[in-house]
Amino acid sequence: MNYDLLLLAGDGIGPEVVAQARRVLEAVDTRYELGFTFSEANIGGIAIDKEGAPYPPSTQKLAREADAILLGAVGGPAWDGLPAADRPERGLLAIRSDLDLFCNLRPAMLFPELAQASSLRSDLVAGLDILIVRELTGGIYFGEPRGINTREDGVREGVNTDRYDENEIRRIGRLAFEAAKKRNGRLCSVDKANVLEVTMLWREVLESLSKEYPEVELSHLYVDNAAMQLVRAPKQFDVVVTGNLFGDILSDIAAMLTGSIGMLPSASLNAHSRGLYEPVHGSAPDIAGQNLANPLATILSAAMMCRYSLQLNDIADRIDRAVASVISQGLRTTDIASNGKDQNSLAPVGTTQMGDAVIAALGKE
Ligand code: IPM
Ligand code: MG
Repeated sequence: MNYDLLLLAGDGIGPEVVAQARRVLEAVDTRYELGFTFSEANIGGIAIDKEGAPYPPSTQKLAREADAILLGAVGGPAWDGLPAADRPERGLLAIRSDLDLFCNLRPAMLFPELAQASSLRSDLVAGLDILIVRELTGGIYFGEPRGINTREDGVREGVNTDRYDENEIRRIGRLAFEAAKKRNGRLCSVDKANVLEVTMLWREVLESLSKEYPEVELSHLYVDNAAMQLVRAPKQFDVVVTGNLFGDILSDIAAMLTGSIGMLPSASLNAHSRGLYEPVHGSAPDIAGQNLANPLATILSAAMMCRYSLQLNDIADRIDRAVASVISQGLRTTDIASNGKDQNSLAPVGTTQMGDAVIAALGKE
């Protein structure tokens, strides 16, 4: 077997965290002879600087050929002044759209030892295990018309359009029901159906799908209430399915409940399980290049890649276990170190030391 893996390190802390995930993948490749080959390409700000576009044709070509893609992060202050259509983030949206990666899986799981790092009381988050299924290639992120226009009266207006057709809703809904079926059988669909027509349709399609999944208990929440419930009693959730914008916001909330956004991986899949894997966190320009970033979300994303795109479940489990083991050994990057509250934690470690520890733990498997 041979697997072509494309690494898109991107901006800010992206290169540092992707480097550690690559070392982990190389370690399992060497040990279990998996046949990984790696290539690299530019995305985001660095692609703008080097190739004149955030998702240049050279990257697109490699992305279309790869078996799976691991991405770091995009964006940073250097490109903040650019018009919306030229920003690094457009590179990310372009690759999601180009590869039809409509299904974004964002698991928010609490490592028991990190309960202290959560923004909520430990008893509210102990055992937390939520899967957010976010629609990723539609909705207001992509709807037309969009733009900033000057009206006839000389006043400028900004416009975006939230739009979903029933097929788009059905395909993401189906994957969410399938996921719920494999987990605890509860699916909560999040919408704003009391105000927005686009989500009235969303709710209707989810309701009609639920007839095909009698074993899954479907509930609905308006997004404002869902945000409140996530910080009030997050353990009530199993699988959450929602559109692009609400999913963006709710997944950051869910991330914080688990102690750090530095821990959360994600998978963005198309209908054939080809995928792009990336940490949920951003490029964190304030700590870039200082060996401070937490590489675990990217390493866990590499594990998701093994599971969902490469069908290497056993390898995925090994990587997950190695990460759990370094956490239980007390290793913490600064984002998850908890100012002495956590009895088990040692002095914070850097990005590369965390990578070293995961590789060492894999060696003991
Ligand atoms: C995310 C990010 C992206 C998004 C940005 C960087 C375009 O926040 O993946 O959650 O909004 O989808
Ligand atoms: Mg986001």
